[in-house]
Amino acid sequence: MKVAIVGGTGDFGLALARRLVEAGDEVVIGSRDAERAQEKADEVGAAAGATNEAAVRGVELVVLATNAGATLETAAALAEAIGETPVLSVASDLRSTEPSSLAERTQELVRGPVAAGLQSLAAGKLAHGRPDEDAFVCGDDADAKALALELAAKVVAGRALDAGPLVRARVLEGLTGVIVSLNKRYKGHAGIRVTGLPEA
Ligand SMILES: NC(=O)c1ccc[n+]([C@@H]2O[C@H](COP(=O)([O-])OP(=O)(O)OC[C@H]3O[C@@H](n4cnc5c(N)ncnc54)[C@H](OP(=O)(O)O)[C@@H]3O)[C@@H](O)[C@H]2O)c1
Repeated sequence: MKVAIVGGTGDFGLALARRLVEAGDEVVIGSRDAERAQEKADEVGAAAGATNEAAVRGVELVVLATNAGATLETAAALAEAIGETPVLSVASDLRSTEPSSLAERTQELVRGPVAAGLQSLAAGKLAHGRPDEDAFVCGDDADAKALALELAAKVVAGRALDAGPLVRARVLEGLTGVIVSLNKRYKGHAGIRVTGLPEA
């Protein structure tokens, strides 16, 4: 799969890039700064590094992985370049008081169908290998969700699980905060495994 990671120079995007490169995907690291993107691309063996706008052109899936606070302004700025390409939002805004999710609001800004997912994965763990966890993905568009699930399955040792329509992003975007609280309270590195589902 050819994937662009917008904000791929950050902790999460770069960790995701490592796992996707390892899985054989063609990854383009995006940044506001082309030079920084190329440096990070070289660091993880990605196919290329480019400005976010150049990175999203000609790929099969765009992962929006900027700092959460920059998600919406970045989606709006890249809408034209993204066009109809499916988008995976990994954003989770710990301070949000909005009733709707960042992913739903991203969908109002771009034409390509938006899926949301991977919020329960910690960058620190993802950077060192496939976490022994499940990953959730949600979305309203079947094709975008299928691509996002395909990506998720490559980066965790557990399962990539379809968590339903895009409105579920409201819950998924809260998972990062839950994980952070668990880690503080129990001084650990929490991750999620779902029980009670049939084997895939
Ligand atoms: N960290 C985690 O464990 C974790 C877990 C699950 C989900 N997430 C989600 O993954 C996303 C990235 O998290 P992160 O921890 O990697 O964030 P981060 O390191 O703070 O930021 C990622 C990248 O965003 C870009 N950026 C920063 N401010 C920007 C702005 N105003 N406009 C456009 N781009 C900007 C920067 O890239 P350039 O300066 O190179 O452009 C930066 O390297 C967030 O939405 C977060 O909620 C993170």
